[in-house]
Amino acid sequence: MRLLKRAAAIGIASLMVLSMAACGSGAKETTAAATEATTAAESNTTAESTAEAVKEAVGGDMSDKKVGISIYKFDDNFMTLYRTELQRYLVDELGFKKENVVVQDGKNDQAEQTNQIQNFITQKYDVLILNLVQSSSAPEVTEMCKEAGIPVVYINREPTVEEEQRWKDESIKATYVGCDARQSGTYQGEQILETSNKGDINGDGVVSYIMVQGDPENVDAQYRTEFSIKALTDAGVEVKELLKQRGDWDQAKAQQIVQDALTQYGDQIEVVFCNNDAMALGALQSIEAAGRKVNEDIYLVGVDALTEAVQNVLDGKMTGTVFNDHLSQAQSAADMAAAFVLGEDVENVNMVDYVKVTKDNAQEVLDKLK
Ligand code: BGC
Repeated sequence: MRLLKRAAAIGIASLMVLSMAACGSGAKETTAAATEATTAAESNTTAESTAEAVKEAVGGDMSDKKVGISIYKFDDNFMTLYRTELQRYLVDELGFKKENVVVQDGKNDQAEQTNQIQNFITQKYDVLILNLVQSSSAPEVTEMCKEAGIPVVYINREPTVEEEQRWKDESIKATYVGCDARQSGTYQGEQILETSNKGDINGDGVVSYIMVQGDPENVDAQYRTEFSIKALTDAGVEVKELLKQRGDWDQAKAQQIVQDALTQYGDQIEVVFCNNDAMALGALQSIEAAGRKVNEDIYLVGVDALTEAVQNVLDGKMTGTVFNDHLSQAQSAADMAAAFVLGEDVENVNMVDYVKVTKDNAQEVLDKLK
């Protein structure tokens, strides 16, 4: 498995850049972010090679192996796409038996999810793929798995850098597959900078915005919130935050938040930043209901590239979104699980690149999603 080893080397580089960015000054962060983008692109290619290597090595060996998967909650648009691809790929491409791939709904309840994990352990599953309800549970869950000798692939909700480093230092069979959310935030900010008036619709020299956040415990929500605005301020744009509120990744909650904000702040709102597309779709409902027009008197950006959102970008009803590549992430997570089952060493962090989606490439992205 020569290719897997290459993946490991790139994974290390990627982690180093991540820690640099986390503790560096502003200037360092920018360089680190740029390097990170390149590294993520490289590791993306590597993920493809890893897939090939795993497929080659797998043969029929996976047919009696059991994979336990727990998703933080089934009622999440993005994670539904993700888990569908995860199941398809494990069975169709890697040769796991359908009945040996068991997916459970964590119901947004960590206690319930920990129970499910405990059951997987008792039933001696060969490997687990976990989308934790609370990423802060990672140390406890990792210990449970380690004691049982079961490797674990964490997805989507990133544990802390310290926890990831601990797996490496203590040779624990645990890994994380995800994206660097700083990149998606930066892309959102850039999309506003790329508009004709750089987001300053009323020409008062200040970009006034509202921020609809995902679950704030989630690093994706924290980084998207921070880095979308940082892209503007780094470019010398003055900003004013009218409102920042948690919408928990949820369309209905976001719709309510944006409806209330439009009532309270009206024309003052020039940009609506949403940490994901489900919330951007909710925001759009309220924007339209208030008689406002995206890209004319208000801007709206999301993240994920849900089909409906990409179509909205194409139709000019959303300013932009960012492709949170669930296909590559699911495939990479499944490859890591298979590698663990084969007794391979797996790098502790594996990042997939985000893709900026604007009107120019929206059709291309849409074709990929179909
Ligand atoms: C996605 C959200 C999703 C969340 C779940 C994020 O990366 O952008 O749409 O709700 O993950 O943890």
